[in-house]
Amino acid sequence: MCGIVGYIGKEQATPILLDGLKKLEYRGYDSAGIAVMNGGEINIVKAKGRLKVLCQMTDDGAAVKGACGIGHTRWATHGEPSETNAHPHCNDEKTIAAVHNGIIENYAELKAKLIRRGYTFYSQTDTEVATKLVDYYYKKYNDPLRAISEFALRVRGSYALAVMYCEYPETVFAIRKDSPMIIGTAKGGAFLASDVPAILKYTKSVYYVDNLEIVRLKSDGATFFNLDREEVEKVPVEITWDAEAAEKGGFEHFMLKEIHEQPKVIADTLNYAVKNGKIDFSEIGLENKFLKKLNGVIIVGCGSAYHAGVVMQYVIEDIARVPVRVELASEFRYRNPVASGELVIVISQSGETADSLAALREAKKKGLKTLAVVNVLGSSIAREADYVFYTKAGPEISVATTKAYTAQLIAGYLFAIKLAEVKKTVDAAVISALVTELKTLPEKVERLLADKEKIQKFAAETVDKNNVFFIGRGIDYAVGIEGSLKLKEISYIHSEAYAAGELKHGTISLIEKGTLVLGVLTQGALIEKTVSNLVETQSRGALIATVVTQGVRLPETGFERVFYVPETDSHFTASLAVIPLQLLAYYLSVLRGNDVDKPRNLAKSVTVE
Ligand code: AGP
Repeated sequence: MCGIVGYIGKEQATPILLDGLKKLEYRGYDSAGIAVMNGGEINIVKAKGRLKVLCQMTDDGAAVKGACGIGHTRWATHGEPSETNAHPHCNDEKTIAAVHNGIIENYAELKAKLIRRGYTFYSQTDTEVATKLVDYYYKKYNDPLRAISEFALRVRGSYALAVMYCEYPETVFAIRKDSPMIIGTAKGGAFLASDVPAILKYTKSVYYVDNLEIVRLKSDGATFFNLDREEVEKVPVEITWDAEAAEKGGFEHFMLKEIHEQPKVIADTLNYAVKNGKIDFSEIGLENKFLKKLNGVIIVGCGSAYHAGVVMQYVIEDIARVPVRVELASEFRYRNPVASGELVIVISQSGETADSLAALREAKKKGLKTLAVVNVLGSSIAREADYVFYTKAGPEISVATTKAYTAQLIAGYLFAIKLAEVKKTVDAAVISALVTELKTLPEKVERLLADKEKIQKFAAETVDKNNVFFIGRGIDYAVGIEGSLKLKEISYIHSEAYAAGELKHGTISLIEKGTLVLGVLTQGALIEKTVSNLVETQSRGALIATVVTQGVRLPETGFERVFYVPETDSHFTASLAVIPLQLLAYYLSVLRGNDVDKPRNLAKSVTVE
C-alpha cells in the first residue's frame, strides 16, 4: 500500500528510484512520482497509472539529473488517482518536497489551519497537508529536524514520510509512525524504502526505523533522532536473503513462483522450530510453564492470515483441548472483547497490517500476552509482540498470498502440538508421529505441484464461470474460505465459501444450472456428509468438482472432476488441499488476462483501516 524510495549518493538518483519503485509495485498503486534535487533545485515528475508511464516520461531516468531524490507509488486514499494527487507534493516555492505512506487522520483540521495562515491547496490529498505543515514549521524554526518533529507532534494517524529541503541539497529526512520504513547503507550511498526488496540490489545492511524516529540520510550514512532531536544509536540488521529471492526466477508470475516455493517454505519453517525431532520454542521465548497454565487462545488476523487462524482453531482445540476463538482483527480491535488470561496470537505476513497491529495493541492494553506469527523481520507487529514466531516464507511479492499462508499453517500446527505436549493431552508417541508426519509435507506438496496441468485444464473448462461455491466441513471448510478468497482476489470471479451443513439454510437458492460447486473432502467421517450436500447441489444443476484425499472411496455420485491430494494426518490436510485451490485461482486469473501479481484495487500490505 503505497511505496516509498529515497536515495542520496554518488550515482544518478532517478534510475535507482525507478528501479526501487518497480520492486515495490507488488504493494499496489495507481500513480507514481519522483522528486530529484539538482543544483539546489527540486525537479518533480508524476504520472497517473503504471510506472512505465513515469519511465517513459523520464527516459528511464536519464532525463532527470541529480544524486539525491525521493520516489513514491500511490494507492489512492484521499482523492482519486491523478497526476495532481500523485506524490511528491511540494510547497509553493518548490523548496520542499515530500512523499508519504499512511493516513493523516486530522488532515482536514490541519488543512483549515494552514489555509488560515495563507496556504493554498491544489490536490485532495492528506500528503499535501503534511508537506505544507512541515513547510510551515521549517519557515518558523529554520531547522529541518525541528520542522519534522513539530509535524509529528501535531498529526494523528500513520505515516512514513520522506522530505527534501532545497537548503539541504545533499540530505533526505524521514520519519515514520505505524507505516513501515527501512534504511539501507552502502559504500557511497544511503537508501530509504518501504520494504527491503527495493534496495536489496545495493545493500543488505538495513536499519528498521522505530515509531517516531527521525532519520537524516546523507551519502555517508544515516543518523537517527528521537522527537527531542537527540541522537539515537541503532544497530543494522543483515538481510539473509538475496536479490534473487525477490525476483521471478524464470516463472511467469511471482504467484506461480511462490506457489512452487511452498515445499521449501514448509521445510524451512519446520527447521526453525523443530530441533532433533522435538518442537523447540526457545528461540521464540515461549516457555513450557507459561503454556502449561494457558487456558485459552484468541487468534486474530485479516484475510488469509485470519483463514490460517481458522485452521489453527480446529487443530489446537482438537489436539491440545484448549478453547480457541478466531477473530477478524478489524472487529476485535473495536468491540472491547472480554478476555483474561488468554494468549493472543496475531497472524500477519507483513507484520504491518493496520487492523492486526491495532488488535495486538488492544490485547496488550487488556494485559494479555501476545504471540506474533509474522513473516517480515523487524516489522511493527513483530517488534511489539511479547513473543515472535517468524514464518520462514522469505519475501512474498504476489499480492495474493500463498507461501506465507502455508508457513502460517505450519506455525499453527507446531503451536498446537507443543501445547498438547506440555498439557499432556496426547501421548508422547502421538506427538512424535505428528512431528514426523509434518516432515513429509514438503514432498507431498511437490507431488501436487508436479500434477498442476490437471488443474490448468480444469481452469480452461471453467474459465467462463461467474459463480463458484466452496463447501466443506471442519478443516475442509477452513481451507475453502481461503480457496474462495484466492479466486475472488485474482480471477475476479464471484465466489462464496460455505460450511457444507449451512448451505441449505439459504445459500442453496443461488445454485443454478452450471454453477460450479467445489467440495473439499479430506476430513474422514465428515466426507459422506459433505458429499450429500454436493449431491443436493448437483440435483439443482451444479457442476461438481472435488478435492479428495487419495485412497478415499467416494459414494457412487457420478462426480467426474476429482482432484486427489496425498494422504496425511487429518489435522494437516489444509496444507495439501489448498494447493489445487491456489493453482485454480492462478490459472483462471491468467486465462482471464488479469494482472495476477497486482490484482485491481488491492494492496499487498494494508497499512490503513
Ligand atoms: C491474501 O491473499 C490477501 N492479499 C490478504 O487477505 C492478506 O492476507 C491480508 O491483507 C493480511 O495481510 P498480512 O498477512 O500482511 O497481515
